Amino acid sequence: MADITTTYLGLELPGPVIVGSSPFTADADKIASLARHGAGAVVLKSIFEEQIAGEAASLERYSDYPEAADYLHRYIGENNLERHLELIAAAKSRVDIPVIASINCYSGGDWIEYARRMADAGADALELNIYLLPTDMNLSSDAIESGYLDTVSRVTAAVSVPVSVKLGMRFTNIGRIAMEVYYRKARGVVMYNRFFEPDIDVDSMRLVSTGSALSHPSELRNALRTVAMCSSQLPELDIAVSTGVHSGEDAVKALLAGASAVQVCSTLFLHGLDVIGEINGYLARWMRTHTFPTVGSFRGALSFREYFDKNAYLRVQYMKTFM
Ligand SMILES: Cc1cc2nc3c(=O)[nH]c(=O)nc-3n(C[C@H](O)[C@H](O)[C@H](O)COP(=O)(O)O)c2cc1C
Repeated sequence: MADITTTYLGLELPGPVIVGSSPFTADADKIASLARHGAGAVVLKSIFEEQIAGEAASLERYSDYPEAADYLHRYIGENNLERHLELIAAAKSRVDIPVIASINCYSGGDWIEYARRMADAGADALELNIYLLPTDMNLSSDAIESGYLDTVSRVTAAVSVPVSVKLGMRFTNIGRIAMEVYYRKARGVVMYNRFFEPDIDVDSMRLVSTGSALSHPSELRNALRTVAMCSSQLPELDIAVSTGVHSGEDAVKALLAGASAVQVCSTLFLHGLDVIGEINGYLARWMRTHTFPTVGSFRGALSFREYFDKNAYLRVQYMKTFM
């Protein structure tokens, strides 16, 4: 019997398929269904400070009292947070798998407040969905990264539950970021978040937001190399691969590169919840074929340290491809 259990952020997971933060994890009934379909854990839909601020701003427009702004922000923020805390409690009462809460903030104070209250509400871990879209050319990447890392330090100091950081894929040196995050006591990273990209309609000459909301399996390759590098140099930092994991084969690739778990979202939209069981089934069959009794017995077998042909990972330019 192949044992597909794994550990992620120090938590025991019955399988490596985590349902990523998305509409699938926004209510307790759906979460219960995900657990029945074989999910190893769920990351709840993020609470977005930006959204709360936006709702407050739209109500302020109807108010004649400027002093109402602060009250509205606090009232709407509290309301949203309360709903999230209720979701955490409801999910925890319905499923045995770990429930990971997700936060996206931009002002320092709210990160800490939200993190503390979500941990108190029973979240097994927190995922920090950190991203600032840089539109100011005068802002150095160093300054942006320091801000991210400061948030990580402050949240990990404020809560006792494990914390992971969901990273965007555009850093000059992703390994350095992973290492700095680890030094600030995060237990794991998610590689990677996938951001909404606008597209251009050449007929109407307008921006359209119909871009690619869902990933393609080929996008998994964005993570394999960096997962292989980070997992071998930072073995204590757990990695969950997100973006492009659509099938059992994709999950096996991520684990071979050194991930502890995978997160799925697009494949659920495209193929339904049964795909979770199909990924678990494929993994178990693959392990039996290759005589691996546990996930730990092959995880990282193709990481940067273990794989004999380092050049395959180091090759980035197309020098000889079409010669
Ligand atoms: C409709 C939709 C909503 C999402 N909402 C969130 C969110 O609230 N927080 C977050 O961190 N990621 C969110 N994501 C990103 C997913 O968690 C995931 O990282 C991304 O879709 C890439 O994984 P995939 O290839 O399995 O889809 C969302 C994705 C989609 C498609």
